[in-house]
Amino acid sequence: TTGPLVDRFGRVVRKLRISLTDRCNFRCVYCMPEGDIPWIPSEEILTFDEIQRVVRLCAAMGVEKIRLTGGEPLLRPGVEELVARLVRIPGIRSVSMTTNGFLLPQKAAALKAAGLSGINISLDSLDRDRFRQLTRRDELDRVLEGIAAAAAAGLEPIKINAVVMRGINDGEVETFLRWAREQPVELTVRFIEFMPLDGSNVWTRELVYTAAEILEQAQRIAPVEPVNNDPADPARLYRFADGRGTFGIIASVTQPFCASCDRIRLTADGKIRNCLFAVEEFDLRELLRGGADDATLAAAIRRAVWVKWRGHLIDQKGFVKPPRAMYAIGG
Ligand code: GTP
Ligand code: 5AD
Ligand code: SF4
Repeated sequence: TTGPLVDRFGRVVRKLRISLTDRCNFRCVYCMPEGDIPWIPSEEILTFDEIQRVVRLCAAMGVEKIRLTGGEPLLRPGVEELVARLVRIPGIRSVSMTTNGFLLPQKAAALKAAGLSGINISLDSLDRDRFRQLTRRDELDRVLEGIAAAAAAGLEPIKINAVVMRGINDGEVETFLRWAREQPVELTVRFIEFMPLDGSNVWTRELVYTAAEILEQAQRIAPVEPVNNDPADPARLYRFADGRGTFGIIASVTQPFCASCDRIRLTADGKIRNCLFAVEEFDLRELLRGGADDATLAAAIRRAVWVKWRGHLIDQKGFVKPPRAMYAIGG
């Protein structure tokens, strides 16, 4: 039950992304379907005790960083208590979160006190109408308040995630960068290529506004230069040569980073996913609830990691869209 979690291609798992719920208070078009959604029944959602146990086992096998996702992780009652429990697990160096920001005005201080290191906030438009079109909720101001609350609570670093869709918000790259450069706190905006993980099958290759196009738009502000960052980080970082600001591009479609991938996922209903695009999942919930001992659970996690495939095939023959959409996988 110790020794690193490694796959057939020699990649080592250091990060575990845990989805706390598939539910969300937004309905972003690149993630969720419209209308009635068949939510995971609550009795199938892992409890904090179960999550803590999985993290303890993963930490013993070399996992160092935890990211809580959803759905919207802040919808999970008492989430700060879970954070406080996870940061205390030996081997865990950081627990962070990816959120839509809506509940941060209430939650930021408690999350900071619980030991959360850093927060990634999704924000795809700074224009009220476009924000509403993308999230299907009229809550731009509230998310901006959430960002301010995170900054006030000292929840740094703050990263802003913007999924860029051609013909919708692709004109805002420049606007976002100018906005970030003016903020009193340091914000790293990361532009994300739209991936085929949406809930209503709207994805087409045409809708992907590419990393190259994003970079071209950024250069209109000032010359940019690449920053050397961890190759396991999905974002490539750039800085403005005038010294005012850093931003990132997550080019999952045009420049896949699968070769340096160091992450696995745990879904809210207790399945290990060894890849965002995996079509096969490995159930831990049944083991957890069936009285399995630590060695059995650890072996199941190890097996799930071992068979991780080389990478996704977006843009290639043989690509199969996973049966679950982003909100049910965990961002
Ligand atoms: P940092 O540690 O802060 O860099 O976190 P992160 O960028 O890994 O986490 P975040 O949840 O903010 O993810 C940002 C975006 O990166 C997600 O929306 C995904 O689009 C993309 N992403 C995250 N993990 C993966 C992955 O394993 N594969 C691919 N292809 N994209 C990913
Ligand atoms: N393509 C790219 N990014 C996506 N996200 C959700 N769905 C998609 C998609 N289809 C992003 C959200 C959030 C993160 C968790 O995942 O914007 O920042
Ligand atoms: Fe890792 Fe799969 Fe994402 Fe590639 S697509 S970076 S292998 S999780």
